[in-house]
Amino acid sequence: MNIFGDCLLHYNFGLLFWIRNHRAVINKKYMSTTTKIALVTGGSRGLGKEMALSIAKKGIDVILTYRSKEADALQVVKEIESLGQKAIALHLDMSMFTSLDNFVGIVKETLKVKWEVNAFDFLINNAGMGATVPFLDVTEELFTDFLNVHFKGVYFLTQKFVPIINPGGRIINISTGTTRFSNPGYSVYASMKGAIEVFTKYLAKELGSKGIGANVVAPGPVETDFNNAFIRSNPQVKAGMSAASPLGRVGAADDIGGVVAFLCTEEAKWVNGQRIEVSGGINT
Ligand SMILES: NC(=O)c1ccc[n+]([C@@H]2O[C@H](COP(=O)([O-])OP(=O)(O)OC[C@H]3O[C@@H](n4cnc5c(N)ncnc54)[C@H](OP(=O)(O)O)[C@@H]3O)[C@@H](O)[C@H]2O)c1
Repeated sequence: MNIFGDCLLHYNFGLLFWIRNHRAVINKKYMSTTTKIALVTGGSRGLGKEMALSIAKKGIDVILTYRSKEADALQVVKEIESLGQKAIALHLDMSMFTSLDNFVGIVKETLKVKWEVNAFDFLINNAGMGATVPFLDVTEELFTDFLNVHFKGVYFLTQKFVPIINPGGRIINISTGTTRFSNPGYSVYASMKGAIEVFTKYLAKELGSKGIGANVVAPGPVETDFNNAFIRSNPQVKAGMSAASPLGRVGAADDIGGVVAFLCTEEAKWVNGQRIEVSGGINT
């Protein structure tokens, strides 16, 4: 080996040695800031859980929220960690409108402490509940509850988060097939989701200059705990919905999660301002 090769060898050994000794510092400075982070509301079960897991499988870290099922949420965190991503579960109740500022503060603190960053990348507004109540029986109380959880809460939570969503980030709002076809008893629920669809078009328009995109994912009927497990506990309803689907079944949570995860990838960067219905082609 000539003197030049000798120097190069020493240099490489030196570099390797330096990297080994400074790995922790390098990871802290660069790696922690390059991993993207998604916030999935209502990630403790159902569609949100599958979204959180599918997103983690894309190499994205996850903040997920729960309202009542803390143990389920912590289980999802464990599953995400076993996939090699970081995750945390935070409490959020969208019906408590005045608690949203506090929640945003906790998210900011969590980003700082757990990730050493000040912003995240993907906001998935998924949390929600259902109820089958005929139009003539709807009370103002029920209306207000659905308004807070499905529209007012989502609207203002998004407004509070936009300043800490990175350029290139995405907002994905979860709507429903029942904004396209009508399901008796869903007038309040579907009206709020309809508002979310209009809201999303405006988000896409107004946030484009910040490099942030916004889309709606509208699932058809999916067998989850939603609306007191309405589909699971009513075999006749389930059979009717399955018959209305070209694929002969109702949806499963993992039919939806992967689509939301796709919208968080580079491949989906040009999909913007869209309502993507994920309903197996149901046509009632
Ligand atoms: N399943 C369907 O057929 C269907 C179809 C179209 C659209 N969607 C929409 O998909 C979303 C998820 O539904 P899902 O089927 O996964 O329902 P789900 O299985 O009942 O799960 C609901 C999730 O939202 C959380 N949550 C409920 N109320 C909340 C509140 N007031 N504040 C904060 N979090 C709350 C729950 O937290 P805890 O677990 O801690 O209680 C849970 O994580 C909803 O927006 C729903 O409207 C569902």
